[in-house]
Amino acid sequence: MSEKLWIFDTTLRDGEQVPGCQLNTREKIVVAKALEELGVDVIEAGFPISSPGDFNSVVEISKAVSNPIICALSRAVEKDIDVAAEALKYAKKGRIHTGIGVSPFHIQYKLRSTPDEIIERAVRAVKYAKRYVEDVEFYAEDAGRAEKEFLARILEQVIKAGATVVNIPDTTGYCLPEQYGSIIRHLKENVSNIDKAIIATHCHNDLGMATANTIAGVQNGARQVEVTINGIGERAGNTSMEEVVMAIKCHHDIPIHTNIVTPRIYETSRLISKLMNMPVQPNKAIVGRNAFAHSSGIHQDGVLKHRENYEIIDPKDVGVHESSIVLTARSGRAALKHHLDALGVVLEGEALNEVYEEFLVLADSKRDITPKDLLSLVGKYVDES
Ligand code: KIV
Ligand code: ZN
Repeated sequence: MSEKLWIFDTTLRDGEQVPGCQLNTREKIVVAKALEELGVDVIEAGFPISSPGDFNSVVEISKAVSNPIICALSRAVEKDIDVAAEALKYAKKGRIHTGIGVSPFHIQYKLRSTPDEIIERAVRAVKYAKRYVEDVEFYAEDAGRAEKEFLARILEQVIKAGATVVNIPDTTGYCLPEQYGSIIRHLKENVSNIDKAIIATHCHNDLGMATANTIAGVQNGARQVEVTINGIGERAGNTSMEEVVMAIKCHHDIPIHTNIVTPRIYETSRLISKLMNMPVQPNKAIVGRNAFAHSSGIHQDGVLKHRENYEIIDPKDVGVHESSIVLTARSGRAALKHHLDALGVVLEGEALNEVYEEFLVLADSKRDITPKDLLSLVGKYVDES
């Protein structure tokens, strides 16, 4: 039986922290509704104590969206939790996400505290949040660099205090997949009450490992993934939703499913890119302009013979109309013929060879070969026929 993987989208919180990506409340509602249609389970709508605007956005998103859980971030501070709870008052299903740093760096240099005091503050925050909502998620900030034994100890206590989800952030994007997976495995094996909570991954991409680490977390027992559309987020970004969802979907050997309506992925990616004024790199997995574009002759010939020779995803499955065969100086005859056929010009044998030679000369000097270029190349053959 396939188990469900909860998709927790933090585009509007961790994603929106990126300089230049800020959205107003109206735009955030548009994004929240798109995320709801995409099928995400949890929308982290903001950090209400951080500004009146963020507070207001959480209130309005809570009113506008019905199906996903609406989550509000807070530090392990009573005032933060009060404000988060107030912002969530219209949410049909509200969650408070509270937490504290757990790595030696954070305990010593950021919080200037001790491990025992950190556990005490964490437990107090979870119990305090439980006064407002049943659903309380605890984040163990910088868990990727924490001591595993301490991490297990604090999680055991916050679960006892009522945490329903425990989030294990690799806040600095430091871990390698084997390392991150082993943290999750350690928690599964050493926290006596771990089955009372869902383990969440929350990975940053500083070493380009966010998706790999997230998948390693899932393979070792995490059942919620915290992600953003297009992988936007602090510094090098967060784990990208589209990558995790499609990796899970492609690998039938992983007995996990998500509720994401994958044909809506591309459209949602474009919406976020446009509203946040954040271009998607052309070679970005799943949603980049070149993700389904074939440009070398060998690949073009292969994909024209059978799509799956060079495509592991059907583009329609992520909302891309069709893959493209791009004409460049590296293209082969098969690609040229494919484009000519589409223009209604059927050339074979020697005629095709001759046009192909002329095409290569043109493609060496011109980046974009247009239908008009092709028609002018084949002019004499068309006229002669
Ligand atoms: O990266 C992180 O640790 C976070 C937490 C606030 C969840 O974003
Ligand atoms: Zn984060």
